[in-house]
Amino acid sequence: MADKRIGFIGAGNLAQPLITHLLEAGYELFLYNRTSSRLSPFADKAQICASPAELGKQVNIVFSLVADDAALQNITEGLQGVLSGLQPGGIHVSMSTVSPACIARLHQAHQQKGCILLSAPIMGRPEAARNRAIHICVAGDETAKQQVEPIFRDMGARQIFDYGADPTHASVAKLGINFLLASAIEAMAEAFRLVESNGISTETFYRMITSTLFSCPAYQGYGRLILDQGYEPAQFSLRLGLKDIRLVQEAAASQQVPVPLAEIIAQHLKQALEKGWGEKDWSAFTALVMGKA
Ligand SMILES: NC(=O)c1ccc[n+]([C@@H]2O[C@H](COP(=O)([O-])OP(=O)(O)OC[C@H]3O[C@@H](n4cnc5c(N)ncnc54)[C@H](OP(=O)(O)O)[C@@H]3O)[C@@H](O)[C@H]2O)c1
Repeated sequence: MADKRIGFIGAGNLAQPLITHLLEAGYELFLYNRTSSRLSPFADKAQICASPAELGKQVNIVFSLVADDAALQNITEGLQGVLSGLQPGGIHVSMSTVSPACIARLHQAHQQKGCILLSAPIMGRPEAARNRAIHICVAGDETAKQQVEPIFRDMGARQIFDYGADPTHASVAKLGINFLLASAIEAMAEAFRLVESNGISTETFYRMITSTLFSCPAYQGYGRLILDQGYEPAQFSLRLGLKDIRLVQEAAASQQVPVPLAEIIAQHLKQALEKGWGEKDWSAFTALVMGKA
């Protein structure tokens, strides 16, 4: 039976629906977020902690879902980080999309304290999270994975992909997925522009690709978004999208794997960021690709 007394650090776009599901499933939650006002929807249903360390003292299992390497480092090992509160044997499940190098460093830091770090990044946007339709890549200690699996289900995970005992492997798998997604977004925008420049209906083209060879959520969802230019409100910000493509490039460089497509996408994301679109959806860079900016 799952431990029903758990901690959750982070209350961003993706974390909010997960916290809601956990509360609905009857968990006793201890919450922390850097900006405490973002926790106000949960103030009467959960315990709000003043720091990650204070949260870590209350529970044996902590989930975190924060922006990037710096944020994860901060809530883990920063002043009043969760690692200073967790007791030996405590489990920290990092659900952020971060670099394998960051996970490797923090894995070691957890081991030194007799604690366990699982890496469990998420596939799926906040809308999917609200619909209990996210998927999780997980890696790390076997027993800890078994312990947290029912909690992933209660958060709304449909499928869980086990990448073994090395927690960095789940992070690499997640970067692979985001690289594929970004490539699909770039390729669709280029194809839409080609079709449009010939006076052909992009709607007919979209219907054709998404009901035949590319009838899958990535093409259906992002294709619609690109054609509608529905970049606001963002489900996944362009600022974080650029972070992920840079992580892909770093991870690839560390293995001497060439990823020329990633460089093209990174340039487009960077140009979009320079236009002040950092808080739009990450697919907003397609306005540049399609010559609509
Ligand atoms: N949104 C998606 O569609 C999606 C899908 C899959 C994976 N992800 C990944 O999930 C993670 C969260 O994404 P999100 O969209 O929920 O992001 P978000 O809405 O921007 O939320 C970011 C969270 O990180 C916290 N944070 C940022 N910098 C921090 C720091 N230096 N110290 C402590 N906390 C810090 C924020 O706290 P404040 O409230 O104080 O700013 C907030 O809780 C990211 O790694 C992202 O790549 C997102």
